[in-house]
Amino acid sequence: MKAYIAGIGSYVPEKILTNFDLEKMVETSDEWIRTRSGIRERRIADEHVTTSDLAAHAAKKAIESAKIKPADVEAIIIATATPDMLFPSTACLVQSKIGARKIISFDISAGCTGWLYALSIVDSFIKTGYNNALVIGAEELTKITDYTDRSTCVLFGDAAGAVIVKKTDDTSGIISSFFASDGNSWKLLHQPAGGSKIPASRESVDKKLHYIKMDGNEVFKVAVRAMAEAAIETLRRADISAEQVDLLIPHQANIRIIEATAKRLKMPMERVYVNLDKYGNTSAASIPIALDEALQVGRIKKGDLILMVAFGAGFTWGGVLIRW
Ligand code: ACO
Repeated sequence: MKAYIAGIGSYVPEKILTNFDLEKMVETSDEWIRTRSGIRERRIADEHVTTSDLAAHAAKKAIESAKIKPADVEAIIIATATPDMLFPSTACLVQSKIGARKIISFDISAGCTGWLYALSIVDSFIKTGYNNALVIGAEELTKITDYTDRSTCVLFGDAAGAVIVKKTDDTSGIISSFFASDGNSWKLLHQPAGGSKIPASRESVDKKLHYIKMDGNEVFKVAVRAMAEAAIETLRRADISAEQVDLLIPHQANIRIIEATAKRLKMPMERVYVNLDKYGNTSAASIPIALDEALQVGRIKKGDLILMVAFGAGFTWGGVLIRW
């Protein structure tokens, strides 16, 4: 019995923030952003729109594509670093917004690797008796981005991607996975305030401690090594070579990280899916929105081997191999 993706949907806000818009906000240039990160533009949610709103849009599409009803959903897991609020979970809010039954709903926090972590949790759910589960990656990173800090504000965007996972006994589905974390380097990428360490105060706001703080250069070095390790270990566990993989869908943080990962795997970029030019780094949403787009543009066909790998705050990293 395996877990497979039976339906998928994604949602991005309409509002676009281009590199040229950012040129007017901070000392940067379209050329610097494109060459250093590969990003051209990103989507920004309106002030009143929350992460659960984006998640609910994506979830409804996934449910429809899986040809089930919201009342059929048996579990909801949302991976997010930008929940609507610290509690209740964004998954509970989505459960209400889509009209699901009183099922198990919870969030997980694993940075950009969150959606893959959630997918592997659901894999266990399916193997222990659940018929289906809704797995969402949803983020509004722009709400915790400091638009006076050029080293971070050019990178992030808002989006949500969702899948319905069901059980199957045919050859499709999750084949292998690998996950890791290393809390020793947490400071290199974090949001200092808002939790128990630095509760919200006038001082925390004045010091801009509610925004993302990242040492991009150090994160970059670790990310390149970790993404490659995630890919190699996930493939090793399935006894599959990188050559056999039809499409690599990496977390979309930086084109240079993606190219370095592909190089280590000796995979040509033609077999790597990239859409970060349009959406920037959408953290836990980046892989499901790329997977949805890859399907829509015909890059995935039945029987294909799809390798998804991610790296993010924590640090966390991991991979999931799927036969479509
Ligand atoms: N425009 C122009 N110049 C800039 C900008 C900008 N937007 N940002 C930084 N610079 C300058 C710096 O000040 C520095 O100038 P200096 O040499 O005079 O000091 C120079 O450009 C180089 O800066 P670096 O930080 O070394 O640039 P780098 O090549 O490392 O690229 C980047 C920066 C794009 C952030 C890259 O390091 C990166 O992508 N890091 C990884 C991000 C990531 O993967 N995050 C993980 C997941 S995110 C999550 O979990 C939410």
